[in-house]
Amino acid sequence: MPEWKFPVFGHGGDYNPDQWRHVPGTLEEDVRLMKLSHCNIMSVGIFSWAALEPEEGVYDFDWLQNVLDTLYANGISVLLATPSGARPAWMSQKYPEVLRVRPDGGRNLHGARHNHCFTSPVYRGFVKKMNAALAERFGHHPAVVGWHISNEYGGECHCELCQQAFRDFLKNRYGTLEKLNQAWWTGFWAKTITSWDQLHSPTPIGEMEVHGLSLDWMRFVTHQTVDFMNAEVAPLREITPDLPVTTNMMFSFDGLDYYRFIDSIDFASYDAYPGWGEEDDDLWVAENAAFNYDMMRSLKNRPWVLMESTPSQVNWKPICKPKRPGVHLLSSMQAVAHGADSVQYFQWRKSRGSSEKLHGAVVDHVGNEHTRVFREVTEVGQWLEKLQPALGGMPPKQVALIYDLENRWAQDNAQGPRDDKQYMKALMGHYGALKRAGLSVDVIDETMPFDGYGLIVAPQMYLVKPGVADRLKTFVKAGGTVVSTYFSGIVDENDLCALGGWPGDMMDLFGVWAEEIDPLFPGKTNAVIVGADQPVSAGRYTCDFMCDVIHARGAQVVGTYESDYYAGMPAITCNAYGDGEAWYLASRMDSEFLAQLYARIAEKAGLKPAVKHLPYGVHADVREKDGARFLFLQNYAAEPKAVCVSEGCDAITGEAVGGEITLPVHGIRIICCRK
Ligand code: GAL
Repeated sequence: MPEWKFPVFGHGGDYNPDQWRHVPGTLEEDVRLMKLSHCNIMSVGIFSWAALEPEEGVYDFDWLQNVLDTLYANGISVLLATPSGARPAWMSQKYPEVLRVRPDGGRNLHGARHNHCFTSPVYRGFVKKMNAALAERFGHHPAVVGWHISNEYGGECHCELCQQAFRDFLKNRYGTLEKLNQAWWTGFWAKTITSWDQLHSPTPIGEMEVHGLSLDWMRFVTHQTVDFMNAEVAPLREITPDLPVTTNMMFSFDGLDYYRFIDSIDFASYDAYPGWGEEDDDLWVAENAAFNYDMMRSLKNRPWVLMESTPSQVNWKPICKPKRPGVHLLSSMQAVAHGADSVQYFQWRKSRGSSEKLHGAVVDHVGNEHTRVFREVTEVGQWLEKLQPALGGMPPKQVALIYDLENRWAQDNAQGPRDDKQYMKALMGHYGALKRAGLSVDVIDETMPFDGYGLIVAPQMYLVKPGVADRLKTFVKAGGTVVSTYFSGIVDENDLCALGGWPGDMMDLFGVWAEEIDPLFPGKTNAVIVGADQPVSAGRYTCDFMCDVIHARGAQVVGTYESDYYAGMPAITCNAYGDGEAWYLASRMDSEFLAQLYARIAEKAGLKPAVKHLPYGVHADVREKDGARFLFLQNYAAEPKAVCVSEGCDAITGEAVGGEITLPVHGIRIICCRK
């Protein structure tokens, strides 16, 4: 498969010249401004179907030819999009089957975007023809450096074609109805299925209670989306085998399991819209963004592309604040710190009408370069040029945080022990603690390889896929450390509860048996008491949300509950297993405890923090390349912060740096040294 090999850091954005074809001179002015802002790549044609095929079978590609020729002549490359994210009206009118059907069985009208059936042979046929035609005409154009497939795939369709595809998917998964009935536990409430035709997607006007069905439907939606994407990509691979392919993914999106996209794309790309300025300080926002960036890098274990970000504000929040001065540079460099090799925007030129006319853009309606936003975008371009030696760099392999979509879906489906499972909050609690400890974190799912890491953190591992418990045991036996929590090892891949005690197949790994789960009311807490001579400092740490009532079965009890009927019973345990350790946190622990825990584990496991003793609000990320180490320091606190760094040189100014440096609010420094 071809790789993303853009020779410099990319800088650019979504470019929609088709919206401006009736305004002469716009393309030429855009090119002038692109060069001025140090932009070198544009994503073109994302929603251009109506311009590319104004009537069925009538292609109008000459305007696009002119755009590509002009960009190329000016040194600007292109990610060429397939336009499948939105269809022209003539298609919906003549072939209504391309439109989506809702869970209640009603078919949508034409409109919006992403309003198409992923199964419809008619839609797939149109997409195939369009993509082949684009590839034939432009696939070997020197401006084109990759394919941008569709745009933010998402949603689901419940039409008859999709129902049939779902039944085929289930037949393939289970083989027989007997197996399906067992996996779905259909003896409950007379749910037994006696013919494949009885199967239907979950819907509020029908079946919603069979958890196995709901989970399989979510799996199917990903499967069908990937199948559609593969069908889109097939003609491109045939005609342009050397052009790498990506599709832009979304932040913490729970509708699709992006880990299943890995084999279909050549590089990962991502659209980021963090809510800068919405909290008292930006640390929480930054950590959420960083989590997603680390996931993108981990998908292919390679640098990725920030395909969209706003240069100023969005238009879809209740209140859309522009980025404050300096935040654009900080947020763009944060993506680079986490492995992005390109920083791109939605959108290059602000559209004049329709729903995104007030969304941030590099070129505002004023139409020139004399804006704060344009200047800040230009600064990002200048920094990216100076960072060239870091292009392609990767962080050291230290920690893997397990984020598994099937686990997330299964938790969301579960009725009890509380409605809100807060899986993302649990993940972010651990992720934040690991980042504050200065560690590099990959975000992987249960199926990805565990080797090479020193620490695996798997909070709320409610659903455990086949083989995962054994793989964790192998990892720990060989000297690795694993941390898991309450609400783990509850169900298998079919959403059937483990028999014989929780955490199921991991009972011996953690050396505990979890007998009961006590969910706490919102705002209520318990505490964990850690005594002297334990691996974490003695003290009283707050816990909340859920308390597993556990028994140590071989594990060392590190801390015990302070109150309730399980006072004095184990709350934190550490089990020596082979050459490694398995920690079980029976309740959701406060950040102070997690800081202690990860400092202790990092030291014992020999995981070197990027910077020791990071002050609150500062992140330190490392990219290594060819013996050089690039340290990205970022301040997300609401006040300046001092950090101690070892000797190196400022990658932007070239000045020597070392000892204590002060990062202003929104400050960023990139320090380069030999490893
Ligand atoms: C993205 C989408 C873009 C644009 C942007 C606005 O999710 O891909 O086309 O709509 O949001 O923030």
